[in-house]
Amino acid sequence: MGKEITVSVIKADVGGYVGHSSVHPELLAKAKAMLDGRPELIDYYVTHVGDDINLIMTHQLGCNAGKIHQLAWDTFVACTDVARKLKLYGAGQDLLSDAFSGNIKGMGPGVAEMQFEERKSEPIIIFMADKTEPGAWNLPLYKMFADPFNTIGLVIDPNMHDGFEFEVRDLIKNREVTFSAPEDIYDMLVLIGAPGHYCIKRVFHKKTGEIAASSSTQRLNLMAGRYVGKDDPVLIVRCQSGLPAVGEVLEPFASPHMVSGWMRGSHSGPLMPVGLKDCAPTRFDGPPRVVALGFQLADGKLHGPQDFFADTAFDLARQKANELANYIRRLGPFEPHRLHLDEMEYTTMPQVLEKLKERFKDLR
Ligand code: 13P
Ligand code: 13P
Ligand code: MG
Ligand code: MG
Repeated sequence: MGKEITVSVIKADVGGYVGHSSVHPELLAKAKAMLDGRPELIDYYVTHVGDDINLIMTHQLGCNAGKIHQLAWDTFVACTDVARKLKLYGAGQDLLSDAFSGNIKGMGPGVAEMQFEERKSEPIIIFMADKTEPGAWNLPLYKMFADPFNTIGLVIDPNMHDGFEFEVRDLIKNREVTFSAPEDIYDMLVLIGAPGHYCIKRVFHKKTGEIAASSSTQRLNLMAGRYVGKDDPVLIVRCQSGLPAVGEVLEPFASPHMVSGWMRGSHSGPLMPVGLKDCAPTRFDGPPRVVALGFQLADGKLHGPQDFFADTAFDLARQKANELANYIRRLGPFEPHRLHLDEMEYTTMPQVLEKLKERFKDLR
């Protein structure tokens, strides 16, 4: 145990209120009670975006610490008990197993963690989304750390000019590859432009090797072998002093991009940046939402949050997202609103194909 701080953001949907729209206040109260006064934590903040509970925790036990993952697991189990009592929707949805085996990864909840030595000043932003999947961070992360039209620091800050390294996960084949920006960006874009398959897991400052961003990447449906909701993702980004400024980190969300998720996890729609008070999806269980909470860390204490997307500067992005949502909804069950067949394989698609088997006639 050194002086390094670890930020762990662990999230799960353990029951929606009402439907898949939000989290019941009793669950949030239970989560807070579970984390309060725990000796393994320096600080914590409990919140929710849509129907997902987010536990933001700081400690000194490093990434993948059994004690921290156990605490998060126990918290979600306790919240599930409350959800069952209230008959909330999909109670226990994201807990794939009844027993905890030391590491919460692969058991349902999403995990983003990073360990670092706290700088003289340590501004961080926690992004949390609902009704989408981890690949939703690919485009904004690319813009933050590789696109000079978004991040002017890449051009004019000597501490950023060398660029960043991107660790990219292949979620289907369970392997990873590291790209160096700007040299490798064309190769990298071939992969990260397919966000259902390849996800940016972590970003590092090239010159110092410091961690800059860390996301929760997983595919719950691939683990469970059936449709169990999308893996509404979280992302931690450190800002300033050789890393993108806070405003450069927020900037990609000013132009809502299309993400997979929305109704039944099976549709493409715009990612709408919202403040906490607007984080419950409604229309067609959406559109997908993202919240950005800023904290100043001081000796592991979380000072904040600053609810960034509540700001009026994101009003136009919300309007644009509503326009895009309105347009694409008209396509109904047609692609590209509905996701590509590959993404439908954990829904009714196999059953429909099975049923139609005899009715298909070979053409020769
Ligand atoms: P830093 O280099 O301290 O991050 O300052 C950049 C900045 O804040 C520009 O907005
Ligand atoms: P969640 O993944 O947020 O639970 O949403 C599931 C869903 O089916 C929404 O229509
Ligand atoms: Mg849900
Ligand atoms: Mg959700």
